[in-house]
Amino acid sequence: MSESSIAWEDGALVTIDQRGLPHELRELRITTVDQVIDAISTLAVRGAPAIGVAGAFGVVLAAQKFGGDIEEVTAEAQRIVAARPTAVNLAWAVQRVLARLPEGAEAVLAAALELLAEDGRVNRAAAARAADLVQELVPGRPLRVLTHCNTGRLATTAHGTAIGALRELHARDVLESVLVDETRPLLQGARLTAWELAEAGIPHRLTIDSAAAWAMATGQVDAVLVGADRITADGSVANKIGTYPLALAARAHGIPFIVVAPESTLDPATATGAEIVVEERSAHEITHVGGVATAPAGTAVFNPAFDVTPPELVTAVVTEDGIRYGTVLTAAAGAAIAATAR
Ligand code: MRU
Repeated sequence: MSESSIAWEDGALVTIDQRGLPHELRELRITTVDQVIDAISTLAVRGAPAIGVAGAFGVVLAAQKFGGDIEEVTAEAQRIVAARPTAVNLAWAVQRVLARLPEGAEAVLAAALELLAEDGRVNRAAAARAADLVQELVPGRPLRVLTHCNTGRLATTAHGTAIGALRELHARDVLESVLVDETRPLLQGARLTAWELAEAGIPHRLTIDSAAAWAMATGQVDAVLVGADRITADGSVANKIGTYPLALAARAHGIPFIVVAPESTLDPATATGAEIVVEERSAHEITHVGGVATAPAGTAVFNPAFDVTPPELVTAVVTEDGIRYGTVLTAAAGAAIAATAR
């Protein structure tokens, strides 16, 4: 399991247990729907595309258990979707494979395998396009890029989205270094992104989330690259908590803020960011660090897992199909209108 981090082997979903990293690279073998739900809700499997693919194989397991019983399998599919509400990829992937249920369990499995194969291809295409855009917006110098959370092969099935673009820039020999936000409270940046970038041989430095604006103010960031969990019809971007302040700081310092995501993260059925359900997680994630209490017992908390960045702060949303939203499009349209008027 080197490039790909999710596989289907002998009737089991096999993946990396992300809770063990960076200390332990252990395999997780999942053979029941309950195990799929547990893996998704405890973030053993996490990242929008990865939970989508895991959810799809959850439907495969349900279809194999209940045969052609559409009611039973649909109820299991609904339980899977409810495991995490914010990333649209989960509901999208589950729906896509569930639609094949009338053709039988084998068709459901074929659809999930298709999804698995597609994810790596899609990420590579989106990542290459995002790398092109970064080079266009910040030409002619070794790039220093800031990233948040984990958007790599762990968060997808292979390659990654924003981290995929970092891989691409590194392969083109134009990436000087990556500044990795630690990503409180679950430390996806410190635990997972730093691990993946080291694995890929990409130079990086870890920093605390609250240092990001200062890094920008002191000229250490040429571009911000992040992923997404849901992008609504107006171009609002839900992503890991702490993304919105990065977009604000990037705007204040004139730095491109680029979102890299597959088309499956677009949610045209939801009109605006205000309608996105933002998952809130347990108080324990904030009141304890490494199992040790860091706040008085019983302290009330606010622990949103995601935030929503409004469209006007997003330079570009790049998918495998190209630039789908962002101020680069409106700027280009404005320039075209001005040229016609001249
Ligand atoms: O709570 P997580 O770790 O699942 O959150 C993940 C993110 O916010 C990622 O940035 C997003 O899913 C994109 S992954 C390619």
